[in-house]
Amino acid sequence: MESIHISTAPLAELVRTMQYLDHSGLTTGSAGNASCRADPGGFWITPSAVPPGALTTASIVAMPLGSPAPVSTPRPSSEWRMHHDIYRERPKIGAIVHTHSTYATALACRRKSIPAFHYMVAVAGGNSIRCAAYATFGTQELSDYAMSALSGREACLLANHGVLALGITPMGAAKLALEVEELAKQYCIALQQGDPAILDEEQMRDVLKKFESYGQRIE
Ligand code: 13P
Repeated sequence: MESIHISTAPLAELVRTMQYLDHSGLTTGSAGNASCRADPGGFWITPSAVPPGALTTASIVAMPLGSPAPVSTPRPSSEWRMHHDIYRERPKIGAIVHTHSTYATALACRRKSIPAFHYMVAVAGGNSIRCAAYATFGTQELSDYAMSALSGREACLLANHGVLALGITPMGAAKLALEVEELAKQYCIALQQGDPAILDEEQMRDVLKKFESYGQRIE
């Protein structure tokens, strides 16, 4: 019988991405997880409770979209529902990372969204980075809250928990998580000095328009 060839490239990228998050200080221990879309109709996700230094491509778990999660060893990330629902509802998203990065989580513990205190909040797709309502980790309720906070956005905070960042590739999603952490840090520092000025709707509309053509155009 002909054997089915499964490319290990996306699995290796997930391992590299978790290690990048770890080296960048965005994750500690086994907190956080990452996934990427797999064809047809599924996704790859990091295993539950395995620290980045111990991750191997063999430990990455395959998950179906739309049907109940199979029982697998190792077990998939406890947050597979959030990843699953984002791939199901957001066809352009190819990868997701979740972290408990320090400053973003500090704001999330105050259940504070990040407003347009700096124009760079537009990297997440709008004029704020919302904080989703609180629910227990790994639950469908948390996934539902996250989906609503992510409406029209590529990142959100999760109350008393952490951050979700979406992208086309795992490294792209990780870089957005890093941007969110930097913004959260700047916002926390600005708050210590008083109330930062917030850019208005029109100012942010101009920024979002400029973002459409910002950067290098690689044909
Ligand atoms: P997992 O190790 O199950 O992915 O959980 C880590 C985490 O960050 C839960 O929110």
